[in-house]
Amino acid sequence: MASPAQAIRHKLLNTFFSRHSIWFLCIIVVLSITWLRLFYHPHYIYYFLSDTAINILWLVSGLLSLLGLYDVLQNRHSITKNYPIMGHFRFIFEDFRPEIRQYFIESDQDALPFSRMQRSLVYQRAKNENADKPFGSIIDVYQQDYRFITHSMTPKLPADPKTFRITIGNEQCAQPYSASIMNISAMSFGSLSANAIRALNLGAKMGNFYHDTGEGSLSPYHLENGGDIVWQIASGYFGCRTEDGKFDPEKFKQQAQLPNIKMIEVKLSQGAKPGHGGILPKHKITEEISRIRGVPRDRDCISPPTHSSFHNPIEMMQFIQQLRDLSNGKPVGFKLCLGQPWQFMSIVKGMLKTGIYPDFIVIDGSEGGTGAAPIEFSDNIGTPLREALLFAHNTLVGAGLRNKIKLGASGKIISAFDIASTFAIGADWVNSARGFMFAVGCIQAQSCHTNQCPVGVATQDIDRQKAIHVPTKAERVFNFHENTLHALSEMIAAAGLEHPSDIKAHHLAQRVNDREIKNYAQLHFWLKEGELLTCDNKDDENFYYRMWNLASAEQFN
Ligand SMILES: Cc1cc2nc3c(=O)[nH]c(=O)nc-3n(C[C@H](O)[C@H](O)[C@H](O)COP(=O)(O)O)c2cc1C
Repeated sequence: MASPAQAIRHKLLNTFFSRHSIWFLCIIVVLSITWLRLFYHPHYIYYFLSDTAINILWLVSGLLSLLGLYDVLQNRHSITKNYPIMGHFRFIFEDFRPEIRQYFIESDQDALPFSRMQRSLVYQRAKNENADKPFGSIIDVYQQDYRFITHSMTPKLPADPKTFRITIGNEQCAQPYSASIMNISAMSFGSLSANAIRALNLGAKMGNFYHDTGEGSLSPYHLENGGDIVWQIASGYFGCRTEDGKFDPEKFKQQAQLPNIKMIEVKLSQGAKPGHGGILPKHKITEEISRIRGVPRDRDCISPPTHSSFHNPIEMMQFIQQLRDLSNGKPVGFKLCLGQPWQFMSIVKGMLKTGIYPDFIVIDGSEGGTGAAPIEFSDNIGTPLREALLFAHNTLVGAGLRNKIKLGASGKIISAFDIASTFAIGADWVNSARGFMFAVGCIQAQSCHTNQCPVGVATQDIDRQKAIHVPTKAERVFNFHENTLHALSEMIAAAGLEHPSDIKAHHLAQRVNDREIKNYAQLHFWLKEGELLTCDNKDDENFYYRMWNLASAEQFN
């Protein structure tokens, strides 16, 4: 037990000279200056401080003393009660921690969610700066899961990246679209600012690739610069909804036939919040957004988790056909993050049963981004891109439909290697969302949901978005796309290939333990063409057969 003397010493040190020291210092300063002013006028003090400085010091320390008093009396924040005045620094630092952590705290390879190396690569390519690195890789090539492309003894000369295009649209589509193999993934006006949308679209126009509207519908900013558009229709049917939020065929038809709209994408889910429906916080809903989407401004805009236009795979295919007809035969597909695998197979069975084949499917990995989502959804729901894409590719091959349906993929695709490795698992093209956000100036401050984006990319604040100079940022969007495809052309040329579609599973290798490397053809199970249709599917050990037997065209579950 401490003696009374020790207790007093402890109290003095712990409370007055540590936790409360700044507050007491302020009180001492304010009392001293008051005393000097009232009773004692030493002239020598003015050699050191001017009259104004003394007044300011008195005022500031007076205000801080009152703040300290408020802190010890309040019961809301324990930290400021225990550390009057000083405790506020915790809130100040916490406030701008996301913006500054990348400069002072994070290492080059910390992926939060994108590492400094990944962001720098985009910034350099977007600014047309040299992104080459001297002295060798800083990646540990002996770490588990290290992946690489196997090069050839007979490399080719790099092909012209302008040839890196694919045609989307099967025989049921009247207006197939020739797409670049890299495009701007769905991000709504509302989530992004008008200037960010303008810059993305102008960049897409300059580089001849597409720009996905995201679920927030088509805005005037998507049309201003004439870039190719993919119009996304989600469960809120923004831009083509009736008063009670159902799909409105007439409104859809009017907009879908615009020449800039090249394809229609039905959004089932997205990787960052599968099964949740989109969220636009109410402080980001301006008058204009409320008009474009047809939603009120007094509450968060939340799209329902499911579509009201279909309730089973057969109805979903009929809806896709309806969209195709209403858009005069433009390619129609859907985007999803893979969840319960037999449900994806149910959709495929729906295709076989109806004979209606979507033109494309976009697989979004659970590592995907968003403007706002509950953290549990982002962290712990949904299948990551690689496994999901492999499953979708295998299922379509097994169902004999792979040649009718193109597969797009998104999920942290930034570099040429990201693209090449995604093609090796079965993608026909890739989309990037946050990569293009970096190109227009995003600094990963992670404040998209607050309307306070420091660089004007993900905000509706008119003043903040003025920071985006559209022509400059459009140029960067164009450069990022062009330089990435150029890097891809060099990369696949080293593997002896000319077009990204030549990349196959055996071109991608992965370390599986400290002694062994396998290529993807060895590492994964690959179904044969039409296998799910022609075999009896009795082998219960085969995961694909088991799932196929669970699936039904009549219901998702
Ligand atoms: C700010 C923001 C807004 C987004 N809005 C949508 C959207 O409206 N619809 C959608 O399907 N996906 C949306 N996404 C997801 C992206 O389209 C993409 O699928 C995902 O972020 C993965 O790509 P990335 O890793 O390149 O960002 C959004 C992503 C971000 C970062």
